[in-house]
This record gives sequence, structure tokens and C-alpha cells, in this order.
Amino acid sequence: MNAITLSKGDYHDEGAYAEVFKVGKIAIKCPFRTEADVAEEFEIQQGLFQEGIKVPEPYEIVEARLPKRTVQAIAMELIPGANARDLISRKLPFQELISREVISSLDELALINPSLIKSLYRTEISKAFSKGFISPASETGLYNAVYSLKNELYLVDFTDWIRV
Ligand SMILES: Nc1ncnc2c1ncn2[C@@H]1O[C@H](COP(=O)(O)OP(=O)(O)OP(=O)(O)O)[C@@H](O)[C@H]1O
Ligand SMILES: [Mg+2]
Repeated sequence: MNAITLSKGDYHDEGAYAEVFKVGKIAIKCPFRTEADVAEEFEIQQGLFQEGIKVPEPYEIVEARLPKRTVQAIAMELIPGANARDLISRKLPFQELISREVISSLDELALINPSLIKSLYRTEISKAFSKGFISPASETGLYNAVYSLKNELYLVDFTDWIRV
């Protein structure tokens, strides 16, 4: 297993279960719990990617060496964009949206359309369900989606998903 050393400066975002670091064009999802096993989540994400569902391309499981813990982590494609829920609720400041390349000018802010983002999410999650993937209710929603430049929406976060 490849190892990567990460520092606070590489921080990108987080959820309740893991924090995500950014290294160039790669995102590394590091669980908070050192005993967490990411193999199942990796496999689900791989399955979704192979079925053509819009998810970050999963690369490999790595050993992530953080300042206070070493964990098994998922290295994947970094989606340039913002969390869809944060975006719709206007939680992210304008400057942050610019630096994350979600928008390149103030004019573009007006073009961010919550209905469109929601409809992209519904389309993608329905595709996943139709291919036999099931996400727990607690993991389903816009907070587990990233809206990117180019008007694309990616599903993220497959902890506790199953495939039937
Ligand atoms: N590949 C990626 N590219 C860009 N941003 C990402 C990527 N993966 C995750 N993120 C961002 O990081 C956040 C946290 O990741 P994720 O949802 O996978 O963590 P989590 O702790 O499992 O979340 P939860 O609290 O929903 O269980 C996401 O909501 C999303 O905004
Ligand atoms: Mg999440």
C-alpha cells in the first residue's frame, strides 16, 4: 500500500465520519477513526464509477499519515467545486467559490440554480438505485454531492452503501 504524508495545509473539507485532503488533483478521504476499514466503500465507489454514475474516480487505498493519526484512506479524483448543500444554502462565501473555481465571476453566482442542482442530484441518485446500489437514508441528500464548474454534479460518500 502506498503511503502519503498529509498536513493541515492540505485540508479540503469534512463530514461527520472523515476529512478530505487535497493534493494536486487528488482527494484523499481520511476517516477520523483509526480502525476504520475503507475497502467496502472503495469497492462501492468503483462499482458506481464502472456503471457510469457520476462519482469521483477512485484510484487506490493508501496509508495516510496525518499529524495525529495514520489511517487507511481513499485516494480519488478531486472534483473542483463545492458541496451542493453548502452551495444552495449560500453557506460558502463568494471568495471561497472563486478560489474553488465553482464560479469565475460575481455574474456567475446568479446562474447557480438550486432547482437545477436538485434535479441533477435526483437524476444521478436514481441511476445508482436502478443499478442496484442502495444508500442509507442518513447518507442520502445534497450534502453528499459536489457541484462542479461545468454544471456537473457528482455523488460522493459511500460509507454504508450496499449493492444488491
Ligand atoms: N472527491 C472529492 N472532491 C471534492 N470534494 C470532495 C470529494 N470527496 C468529498 N468531498 C467533500 O468533502 C465532504 C466530506 O466528504 P464525505 O462526505 O465523503 O465525508 P463523510 O465524513 O463520510 O461525510 P458524512 O458526514 O456525510 O458521513 C463532502 O461532503 C464533499 O463536500
Ligand atoms: Mg458526507
